[in-house]
Amino acid sequence: MVKEIESETNPLLTPWKAGRFQLAHRVVLAPLTRCRALGTVPQPAAIEYYSQRATKGGLMITEATCIAPEGHGYPETPGIYTQEQINAWKPIVEAVHAKGAMFILQLWHVGRASHSDYQPNGQLPVSSSPIPPSGKIYTPKGLKDYEVPRALEETEIPKVVDQYRRGARNALEAGFDGVEIHGANGYLIDQFLKSSVNHRKDKYGGPIENRVRFALEITQAVVDEVGADRVGIRLSPFGGFLDAEDEHPYALNTHLLEELNKLGIAYVHFIEPRAIHSMGVASPHAEFNFQRVDQNLDVFRRAFHGAFIAAGGHSRASGIAAINANHCDAIAYGRPYLANPDLVKRFEIDAPLNKYDRSTFYTQDQKVGYTDYPFLSEAQAGKAA
Ligand SMILES: Cc1cc2nc3c(=O)[nH]c(=O)nc-3n(C[C@H](O)[C@H](O)[C@H](O)COP(=O)(O)O)c2cc1C
Repeated sequence: MVKEIESETNPLLTPWKAGRFQLAHRVVLAPLTRCRALGTVPQPAAIEYYSQRATKGGLMITEATCIAPEGHGYPETPGIYTQEQINAWKPIVEAVHAKGAMFILQLWHVGRASHSDYQPNGQLPVSSSPIPPSGKIYTPKGLKDYEVPRALEETEIPKVVDQYRRGARNALEAGFDGVEIHGANGYLIDQFLKSSVNHRKDKYGGPIENRVRFALEITQAVVDEVGADRVGIRLSPFGGFLDAEDEHPYALNTHLLEELNKLGIAYVHFIEPRAIHSMGVASPHAEFNFQRVDQNLDVFRRAFHGAFIAAGGHSRASGIAAINANHCDAIAYGRPYLANPDLVKRFEIDAPLNKYDRSTFYTQDQKVGYTDYPFLSEAQAGKAA
């Protein structure tokens, strides 16, 4: 049985609301790719992995989940576009619901962060413009250079928008409570948003009003399909992952938020500027202080009318400070939650955390580094309390 979490003093453990979701605490499971969905199908071990992290009234976001075969670019990542995938998600969602948590599926298309080795019929990956990211990619056939992607034709864009819409519908069929559109970290939507990647000359490129069009068409389609109060979007205005950068992050994202306000979505989920390397190379937790960075999410917090989740490099202490300062409504924790299935309990009693093991983040092992991070023993829990 999960103990009901109550605290009058810890602001992380107070109720909040995002769209239709009434939540009991503000410790959100961040989306975490784990590369354990063999052949794009979530495996039974995910039932244990996610239910270990589920708490009564908690909000959890899945690993990024591809909306179409063209959307994959990492080994063994799950999809939400076949009946087999939908059916495989069902028992995972049921186990999370049995613990009383809300479960959101993150909708993903990597765009140019792929390779023809991942693509149906060995075709080129797609993007906003024919510009590859720098660096190399792990493909099923080994480490390779990124290829020059094919720019999506204007006439193809409705099909991709529809893939997001169908992904959202399939997520609800699998039992999920809502969806988060992955607009962050240099993937397809970010490739349209940011000027370093998007060099298009049509109505999807150029001025900010055009570069946000793809994100907004997708959000509108998803809202039409499942209802605005079940929809969130993740954004990384200051991130440079996969070379996706913009000279005017404040102008770009405040405009986007003004438009998202009109759609009335449940929440936005912003990555902190310090977490510039989304895969966690930077941002040592102990030093993170959201109030001291020169770039700050507060402008976006004020611009958006719905709930606001912040993520990246947060500790228990910085999370408490962030909630107290009204920096955000909730904190999404990635690596700390990955390594501490009972993170919420540990935050409640201020217990020490397990350290995460980076070497097992992305392996295919269905247990090691996945479901075997230890819970606090009763003795430890008693000592810390
Ligand atoms: C193993 C791993 C996998 C990740 N996968 C995703 C993902 O699927 N989708 C996403 O939006 N962010 C992903 N991220 C970024 C995290 O959601 C989060 O923003 C990042 O870890 C910083 O937060 P933290 O300091 O609390 O870990 C991933 C990060 C890690 C470490």
